[in-house]
Amino acid sequence: MKKIKKAVVPVAGMGTRFLPFTKAVPKEMLPIIATPTIQIIVEELVDSGIEEILFITNRYKHPIEDHFDYSFELEAKLEANGKDDQYEEIRRIADQANFYYKRQKETKGLGHAILQGKEFVGDDPFVVVLGDDIVYNPDQPAIGQLIERFYELEKDVVGCKKVPMTEINKYGSIEADQIDDRTYDIKYCIEKPSIEDAPSDVAILGRYVFTPKIFDHIEKTKPGVGGEIQITDSIDSLAKSDGVYGYIYEGKRYDVGSKLGFLEATVEYALRDEEVGKEFAEYLKKIK
Ligand code: UTP
Repeated sequence: MKKIKKAVVPVAGMGTRFLPFTKAVPKEMLPIIATPTIQIIVEELVDSGIEEILFITNRYKHPIEDHFDYSFELEAKLEANGKDDQYEEIRRIADQANFYYKRQKETKGLGHAILQGKEFVGDDPFVVVLGDDIVYNPDQPAIGQLIERFYELEKDVVGCKKVPMTEINKYGSIEADQIDDRTYDIKYCIEKPSIEDAPSDVAILGRYVFTPKIFDHIEKTKPGVGGEIQITDSIDSLAKSDGVYGYIYEGKRYDVGSKLGFLEATVEYALRDEEVGKEFAEYLKKIK
């Protein structure tokens, strides 16, 4: 099986849940302490063996391109001031992978955003990770777990998590045959079902390993929930033709593009942080 080296990272959403911040700044740049969310995602990809990263962007997403570029003035200043560690870190951010950018000219949904990666992907299997969705797992990155499962199963694998049934209407829900503790053979999936109609509490969440076959299915997918081309509908079509697995990855997931998810990520990453963790924990105890 060919090693997976390519990732498509859609970052062209409007981020309406995080307005007014997202009026001028991409939600993917929301900082978790001092690290932009999108940097955490890129590091997960690189730690999982990804070398080529295509961002699906739009006209408002320049800060993301700047973040993964060299920054000569800043680097010169850090060098001149002997701040070697910071200099190295700033360079590493730009050097850790090859970055590519393609615009999604209209915000027609996640499926449509992924379709913009068709030429970049060519004949290779590839991964998709959403630009506002982080998973904490210091032992094995979530997308690395899915890639490993893909090599074993030799079939497309989508990342899943069980969610409270009262929240399943926010996600894609799957109907599937469970084949082991964490793996499901998907028969059917539906985006944002009503709680009554949801086939299960297993949701498709933010991480995917696809073969290029998925593009044929996206091209056939009609606009669904919210008038958008939903990747869940394309996955449903793939499940019915070639088959697709769901895999419950290990790690704590945060939806940084939602206010509560951002706050949870901020507090929990801060508590784990070497520099500020202890003091922050004491501060939280004081204000309780
Ligand atoms: P979301 O629904 O989380 O992003 O899409 P959004 O539309 O920006 O969020 P809200 O609901 O308005 O706050 C999931 C992912 O798909 C990307 C988003 O950038 C995000 O990473 N996306 C979504 C696109 O790239 N293009 C689209 O047309 C839609």
